Amino acid sequence: MKVLVTGGAGFIGTNFVQRTRQTRPDWELTVVDALTYAGSLENLAPVADQIEFVHGNIADGDLVDRLVANADAVVHFAAESHNDNSLDDPWPFMESNIIGTFRLLEAARKHNVRIHHISTDEVYGDLELDDPSRFTEQTPLNPSSPYSASKASADLLVRAWIRSFGLQATLSNCSNNYGPYQHVEKFIPRQITGILQGIKPKLYGKGANVRDWIHVDDHNDAVVTILEKGRVGETYLIGADGEQDNRQIVALLLELMGKPADWFDLVSDRPGHDMRYAIDSSKLRAETGWSPQYQDIRAGLTQTIQWYRDHESWWAPAKERTEQTYLRLGR
Ligand code: NAD
Ligand code: DAU
Repeated sequence: MKVLVTGGAGFIGTNFVQRTRQTRPDWELTVVDALTYAGSLENLAPVADQIEFVHGNIADGDLVDRLVANADAVVHFAAESHNDNSLDDPWPFMESNIIGTFRLLEAARKHNVRIHHISTDEVYGDLELDDPSRFTEQTPLNPSSPYSASKASADLLVRAWIRSFGLQATLSNCSNNYGPYQHVEKFIPRQITGILQGIKPKLYGKGANVRDWIHVDDHNDAVVTILEKGRVGETYLIGADGEQDNRQIVALLLELMGKPADWFDLVSDRPGHDMRYAIDSSKLRAETGWSPQYQDIRAGLTQTIQWYRDHESWWAPAKERTEQTYLRLGR
């Protein structure tokens, strides 16, 4: 199978490409990536001779048409992905996440190619801390930030192309990923690399917000499972029952990295900060048999900390730039 992977030089895409080279060695992979600040060709060096790489923007309709015409399936990761950036400058999110997805849908329609659209639980808005419910495939879209609104917009386009044109598409909405190659702007790598540099973790607001953590390999295995066993036209929620508030995550990182439990700062909150995400992934589990392999976040974070310890040259240049941005934003 010839698979076009968009955004394959970013965090989840890199892990997807490296992992599927192991688990699906017969797949021919082409990666298209604009190599924004969040993507790096260095990430794909371990598999460089086993894939084709195209440096390009998915908002470029002609390029996308040529690439999709030559594929059997598309796995669409490419997006601007960071909420704080979307609050600072929303436009790149509109271009990559909405227009880019539109270009892919049009090409997939024209060439009758299967496409899997990667989305996020953030399209459903947030839950109260004491709400016993979790997001399901039936939860109405109610995004809060420019990032999540752009992802919800893309989801609606995919659904419309399925219904109106019979597009051979599936969607998945996953919770917060952690693991190797995640950009240092994101919560867990920001704190790990900060601690390694002697900087205290920074918790937004009171640190009470809850995220539903999943290891990136579990997310990517679910994506492969949906490609192979999912029903065309359907949406699947991906989650690993990993709810933790931000204080709990920082406490665990401090313990695992040998620092005192009170060694953190509370900083100003993110505007419109979603309180809690929680995924009910029963549909995916029941229909496909997928289940997460990383049941223990302590083990997953231990592995992730070790990866950042071993890859300082990978993250150090981005760390400096990222912290300058956070300084300007007051977070
Ligand atoms: P990331 O920011 O680490 O990587 C995104 C990649 O897309 C980068 O390599 C970037 O260069 C590329 N890209 C951006 N705009 C592009 C464009 N216009 N054309 C071509 N390439 C472009 O993001 P990530 O965390 O790996 O997220 C990947 C996908 O998964 C996104 O769609 C995101 O919404 C979704 N998602 C992420 C999480 C998470 O926790 N990180 C959870 C659920 C869903
Ligand atoms: O839920 C899926 C989403 O998870 C994905 O769609 C996004 O692409 C991904 O970035 C992530 O979004 P979040 O906004 O939840 O992730 P982030 O890593 O930015 O923040 C996680 C939580 O930690 C959130 O409550 C904000 C908080 N935070 C973040 C940073 C960077 C802090 O308290 N301190 C920080 O320094």
